[in-house]
Amino acid sequence: MKRNNKNKTNRQDHIVCFCMQVKQSAIEEAIKDGAHNLGQIYDACGAGVGPCKGSCKPYMQNMINSYIEDGVFPEDPRPKKR
Ligand code: FES
Repeated sequence: MKRNNKNKTNRQDHIVCFCMQVKQSAIEEAIKDGAHNLGQIYDACGAGVGPCKGSCKPYMQNMINSYIEDGVFPEDPRPKKR
C-alpha cells in the first residue's frame, strides 16, 4: 500500500466544489466516514449539486477511487492547469 504523509499535515485545503464552497478536507472526511459514492458525499457535506450541475464530480470520484484503491487521497484533486 502506498503511503503519502502529505495527506496528514502541512498541505493546502483546496476547494473542490466551488458552487457549494466545499473543501477537500470535508470531502475526505466524508469518504473516511464511509461515503463511497457521490450521493453519499452530497449527503455528508453538500458537494456536487451546485448550479454548474456537478463539474466537481469527476474529481470527487477520483478521490473516492484513490482512497478505496490505495488508502490515500490525491494531494490536489482539482483539475490540472494547462
Ligand atoms: S463545482 Fe460542485 S456542483 Fe458545481
